[in-house]
Amino acid sequence: MSDLSSTAASPALAPAHPRELVMRVMPMPADANGNGDIFGGWIMAQVDLAGSVLPARITRGRVTTVAVNEFIFKQPVSVGDLLSFYASVRRIGRTSVTVHVEVVAERNPANPQVVKVTEANLTYVAIDREGKPRPFAEAATSPAA
Ligand SMILES: CC(C)(COP(=O)(O)OP(=O)(O)OC[C@H]1O[C@@H](n2cnc3c(N)ncnc32)[C@H](O)[C@@H]1OP(=O)(O)O)[C@@H](O)C(=O)NCCC(=O)NCCS
Repeated sequence: MSDLSSTAASPALAPAHPRELVMRVMPMPADANGNGDIFGGWIMAQVDLAGSVLPARITRGRVTTVAVNEFIFKQPVSVGDLLSFYASVRRIGRTSVTVHVEVVAERNPANPQVVKVTEANLTYVAIDREGKPRPFAEAATSPAA
């Protein structure tokens, strides 16, 4: 695993960083509307969960979603699709981390297809116990008490 904490010292575009598989899930009938298509809100919740994985790791603590900067539903999702969530870091700031999440569906096992169904950019803020923004780079570089 690369050390992103050194990058966090100066707010900037993160260096080219490979995307990482952070979550897999298969939607169930309870997640679908009457036509059998999966609710957009269900997918948004999964993307929010998946997107928080790298920010939580980088900031070494609690994070909260401050913004969904972009969210694109490229293709519908159906019950039984195996969804893989890939995340990559786009920006590391003083208290925030922005990630890009791509969702890929593997469908129709008899005639397998892999389709990109969703992509999104989300920003997470590191927070302390009071829910206030927490400057994680300073904490990572300051000597242990
Ligand atoms: C997230 C929260 C703690 C931020 O508090 P705040 O006082 O507004 O914080 P700041 O203005 O100091 O911004 C903190 C960081 O967020 C970033 N940020 C704030 N608004 C943003 C936006 N709309 N888009 C992208 N980044 C944003 C700032 O740039 C800053 O990043 P940096 O320190 O890396 O430069 C506060 O807004 C909050 O609690 N929101 C509710 C979060 C929540 O409940 N989410 C779940 C969904 S209901």
